[in-house]
This record gives sequence, C-alpha cells and structure tokens, in this order.
Amino acid sequence: MSNIQVSLSKTKAEMESVAITDNIRLAEDDQSVIIIDQVRLPNELVYKSIDNLEDAYQAIKKLEVRGAPAIGIFAGYAIYMLSKKDEEKDFASFYESFIRNKDYLNASRPTAVNLSWALKRMDKIVNDNQDKPVKEIVKLLKQEAIAIHNEDIEMCLKICENGLSLLKDGDGVLTHCNAGPLATSFGTAQGPFLLAKARGMNIHVYADETRPLLQGARLTSYELQKAGVDVTLICDNMASIVMKNGWINACFVGCDRIAANGDTANKIGTSGVAILAKHYGIPVYSLGPSSTIDMNCPDGDHIHIELRDPDEIKNMWYAKPMALPEVKCYNPSFDVTDHELLTGIVTEKGIVYPPFDVNLKKLFNE
Ligand code: MRU
Repeated sequence: MSNIQVSLSKTKAEMESVAITDNIRLAEDDQSVIIIDQVRLPNELVYKSIDNLEDAYQAIKKLEVRGAPAIGIFAGYAIYMLSKKDEEKDFASFYESFIRNKDYLNASRPTAVNLSWALKRMDKIVNDNQDKPVKEIVKLLKQEAIAIHNEDIEMCLKICENGLSLLKDGDGVLTHCNAGPLATSFGTAQGPFLLAKARGMNIHVYADETRPLLQGARLTSYELQKAGVDVTLICDNMASIVMKNGWINACFVGCDRIAANGDTANKIGTSGVAILAKHYGIPVYSLGPSSTIDMNCPDGDHIHIELRDPDEIKNMWYAKPMALPEVKCYNPSFDVTDHELLTGIVTEKGIVYPPFDVNLKKLFNE
C-alpha cells in the first residue's frame, strides 16, 4: 500500500478554485437541506430546498442528490433536519419517529453503502445518548452530520492527491459515470483531474456518457468543462475505440460498495470498461472513501443491485417513446467489477493493491 503526506489546506484551496463546493448544505435555520438538483443539470443550476421526509426520500430515489458519498452526507443532514422538527417530543416518541424516518430514507436506494453507513452513525448517536434531554441529542445529531460531511471533504482531498500521484502530464484517462464534486464533496474518481487542472497539468479526460441516465454527459462533462479540464464526451460504446487508438493511459472509476475481496459495485457499464481495459493492457483504478468499503460483504455476489424503472430506457428520450410499450427492459443501475480486473483501489488511506482480501483488511487494522 502506498500513501503520500500532503498539506490538506493547500489541496483544499486548489480544489476550491476549480470545483463546485455547495452541492449539499443545511439551511441556516436547520429546517431544510439545500441541494443542487442534479436532475436539472446541465441546463439549469437550481438549488432545491428539502424540508420533509417524503421529499428527502424522493430526492435520493429520483437522483436529485446522487453519488455514493453525497447520498451519505445528505442522509446525515436530512435525518438531523427531521429530528430537529421533533425536538419537543419525549424520548420514546422522538425515537419512534427517528427510526421511522431512518428506515424510510434507508429504503430509497440499496446499492451504495454510504447511505446505511451514515444513517447507522446517526442512530448510534441517539442510542449512546438516551439519558440526555432530546434537545441535547438533536444538537449532537447536528454535530455528527457535520462531522460526516467534514470527514468526506478530508477523504476526498486525500483521494485526489493519491489519485493524481498515478498520473503524469499529458495522460489520457477514461472515466465512467460521475464521481466528481457533485457526487461527493470534492470528488473521488474525477477529483484528481480537477486537482491536476489547479496545478497546471494537462490531463485529457474521456467521459463515458453513461446510459441510461447520462451522469457522464450531464454531470461529469459539465463539472470538468466548467473547470477548464480538457474533457471529451463519448458514448459508452466508444470506449473500446479510444483505448485502441492509444489515447487512454488509465481508467478512473468511482464505487458505490466495495466488498471485502475487492469486488466493486459502480454505475452500470463500469465492469465493461474494466474488461475492455484488460484487453488493451490499461490499468483500472477504483477511487472511493473507506466509508464505501463494506467489510461485512464478502464479495460482489452479496451486493444488492438496484433495478430501476424501464421507462428510463424506453421513454425518457426526445419526448417520444424509444421502444414499443410492450417491449421488456432490464435496467440494473449498477454492476460489479470483479476484483481481478482492478489494478488498485484508491482510498484516503492510500492505494490498495492486490491481494485485495488481505490488503483491505490491513487498511482497517493500521
Ligand atoms: O446512480 P448514481 O448516479 O448514484 O450512481 C453513481 C455512481 O455509480 C458513482 O460512480 C459512484 O456513486 C461513485 S460517486 C463518488
């Protein structure tokens, strides 16, 4: 495993000069959580205020807030915001409502571990402080939600540094889906490209459009273009030709859940990228915070893959149906990349190399 020591305040200032930094925040009165509505990008940059359970659930479900770490950060603030509205209750009814809110939010999307991870952390705060007045518990929930966010900032900055250490000026990198500042705080898989830009390095990024919901086209190319990164958008089925052309030195992808053996769930299509890269001898790195590693999940077969509405494939295009209504569709939102296809897993704690089952364990024991 390798890691590099960095001054995070310098990295933070560099990233702030190129990255979107306000994708999720708590309103000043703590009565709502404000997000950038990612569904409306790239055509409109709209901030949406979420102030109730159903809207919070739908924001995650409909991908208004998306990306594994961002869902965790949002869930922390959302459960705090909902708890704040209940702070006059006695403990028993406060906790009953807390559990109901938590379980409902947790059911919004199954694959990214960060959602349940953040909610479990918030639940632990309530459990560990049952003897305190409810208002006091609510204050502690706020602190925990902010801590989850701040830790993500720190993890992202370290991942950006660790990821950038794998690149040199002039490299071409292929990426899939969106794992930039919109999906996290400062970005995981796409964070190093932004840091490279801030440091005057030239990295050529090829962004898969990422069917069916186009996170690559709508979000990744938006974030990178706005920052002045040299980004070229391609359709997913063009990944092979750009690799064959010799334009790709590495693939950087994000992750929604990493199993203990290194099998990695990420946006549907990621495993195809990794299989192609193996054919062309190109290294593939999965970049994500250690909060995305689920040591309780032995391998990819145990990762629950979200199935989404067939309409995303059939009816969300050109305002006209793209297939006959009776045509069957299979719309898994994620796939699992076999650990054998990964060159390394880039975390805030360092870059983990095979054997992943051994080295991921070490990561948590060091
Ligand atoms: O369905 P999405 O858009 O939430 O899927 C997101 C991804 O697959 C990202 O690559 C992953 O969450 C990593 S985000 C840092």
